[in-house]
Amino acid sequence: MAVILDGKAFAAIVKEKTKDEVARLGLTPSLAVVIVGDDPASRVYVNGKKKDCAECGIRSEEFTLAADVGQEKLLSLVEELNNRDDINGILVQLPLPKGYDEQAVIAAINPNKDVDAFHMENIGRIMDGNFTFAPCTPYGVMRLLEHHGIDPAGKHCVVVGRSNIVGKPMAMLMLHKHATVSIAHSRTPDLGAMTRQADILVAAVGKPNLITADMVKPGAVVIDVAINRGDDGKLCGDVDYAPVAEVASYITPVPGGVGPMTRAILMENTVIAAKKAAGKF
Ligand code: GUN
Repeated sequence: MAVILDGKAFAAIVKEKTKDEVARLGLTPSLAVVIVGDDPASRVYVNGKKKDCAECGIRSEEFTLAADVGQEKLLSLVEELNNRDDINGILVQLPLPKGYDEQAVIAAINPNKDVDAFHMENIGRIMDGNFTFAPCTPYGVMRLLEHHGIDPAGKHCVVVGRSNIVGKPMAMLMLHKHATVSIAHSRTPDLGAMTRQADILVAAVGKPNLITADMVKPGAVVIDVAINRGDDGKLCGDVDYAPVAEVASYITPVPGGVGPMTRAILMENTVIAAKKAAGKF
């Protein structure tokens, strides 16, 4: 039976440390959270991030725009936030509604305020391995593994999913920690053949029950990044949890695994942005 990698519990520790650092620094870091439209999942995520900010002594400011506000108005808001000295971090909640050019919006964010690490300049630094802002979800996974004494060096890490937000930066961080890395995706012909090779399996696709127990090598570490709504209305990941937990050595639950870690790293990044702005980094 696998050990549960309790992201919620470790995120609480990370946030407590962040709160202490904020108090010690005598700064009030600030995060602008921009939400366009009324996607219910985005609303839940944004509320969670605002709550985390409050817990850490970070000031959050929400900017809610109507779904049809348009690219230009959104870009001018980003520009305004870039220019405001009292805003350290800018987060535009994704996905944007249809019709928006997400890449153009991300490119408009000042890289020094890009606490999501989505801007090309920050992606480049992640590739290089010497980054200021960590990619929140992949780095949250690395920190959770480290906390449990799991070292990727020499292991085969298979990442399922190739998104810019998770799959690609996840593979890069694993590579920096000396794992052998494979990336599988929707065109991988025999997914099970690939995942069965994994010592560390990261699922980041968004399909409930994509990863079944027969696809997991006994003793593997299984990380489930996805947050899906199952047929029963409950939250679930990509991993068929109960049967896989019988086979794996460690497993992250959904909810309470990777999600809280993503948010904790966002808090750390916001403090880094504030320290940089104050010349304390
Ligand atoms: N949508 C899903 N995950 C994220 C995230 O980490 N940051 C932002 N801005 N949007 C998201």
